[in-house]
Amino acid sequence: MPAVPGTTRECPSDSTLKAAIDERLGEIVETIRHGLLRDALRHAALSGGKRVRPILSLRCCAMVGTSWEQALSAGCAFELIHAFSLVHDDLPALDDDDMRRGRPTVHKAFGESIGILCGDLLQSLAFETAAGSVHGPAITRELASATNAMIEGQAWDTDGGFPEGLSDAERMELIHRNKTGALIRGAARAGAIAGAADEKALDRVDRWSTAIGFMFQVVDDLLDETQTSDHLGKTAGKDRDAGKLTYTAIHGLDGARSEIQRLRTEALDALSGFSEAADPLRTMTQELANRTC
Ligand code: IPE
Ligand code: IPE
Ligand code: MG
Ligand code: MG
Ligand code: MG
Repeated sequence: MPAVPGTTRECPSDSTLKAAIDERLGEIVETIRHGLLRDALRHAALSGGKRVRPILSLRCCAMVGTSWEQALSAGCAFELIHAFSLVHDDLPALDDDDMRRGRPTVHKAFGESIGILCGDLLQSLAFETAAGSVHGPAITRELASATNAMIEGQAWDTDGGFPEGLSDAERMELIHRNKTGALIRGAARAGAIAGAADEKALDRVDRWSTAIGFMFQVVDDLLDETQTSDHLGKTAGKDRDAGKLTYTAIHGLDGARSEIQRLRTEALDALSGFSEAADPLRTMTQELANRTC
């Protein structure tokens, strides 16, 4: 696909980016003819959510010097995979959750078969969207390897089957870097690739997003133990009850808090070679370290 002409590398506010992301996601969902499935897709992909992954894509694209619009399809492809991961994560066979983003989960609202099929469809829509994006083949490869890793992470999280000889802390890190870190890293890399980043810039984006990807799940584990269900929009306190290998289960609440600070510093260090063009990524790093939902 050719470059979007007449645009600048200026990156607008989160709310402007979110509106563009939601508009594109809405167009994608409306291509589906099956009414119930389309309603389930709307429920899964268009009813809230922080949009962290596509915003990362758009901001990384702008940071390497290209218009953020170039990464819109890539970012939406990662958001669709994220939505797929949440719909399936909530199923009875995985985390068995009733609430997501302050509403019933997709299988609660539409039934289990539509829940499974909605997740399946989010995944194929994601790959269709990636294939049609700027630098489609490279973006599609990023999406595939991140999705493979996310699914492996989910399997370690729900069914074990770890490589031999890992301690609990190492098992937890393997889960977190795959089930959550991989999509965050992939979304950031895809944004940089859509912006035609050189190797050095891509390497820095890779190191930054690897740190914030792991950090994101450590924060999620901490919030599960320290926030209310109302505030989170999903059932709090479930990880401990389910005996999950979380960061807090292994290192405690204070251990999680200090790891978040360590990862925040590691992420900011990875950006140190960039000019003020990376300031939006620096701000995001702080926001993701300090988030409460
Ligand atoms: C929740 O992700 C699942 C994790 C990977 C921890 P988000 O916290 O990004 O969920 P939404 O999209 O904002 O609802
Ligand atoms: C997040 O794991 C990873 C994926 C959904 C792929 P969690 O199970 O901790 O996510 P929440 O807490 O349900 O959002
Ligand atoms: Mg889970
Ligand atoms: Mg879950
Ligand atoms: Mg969680």
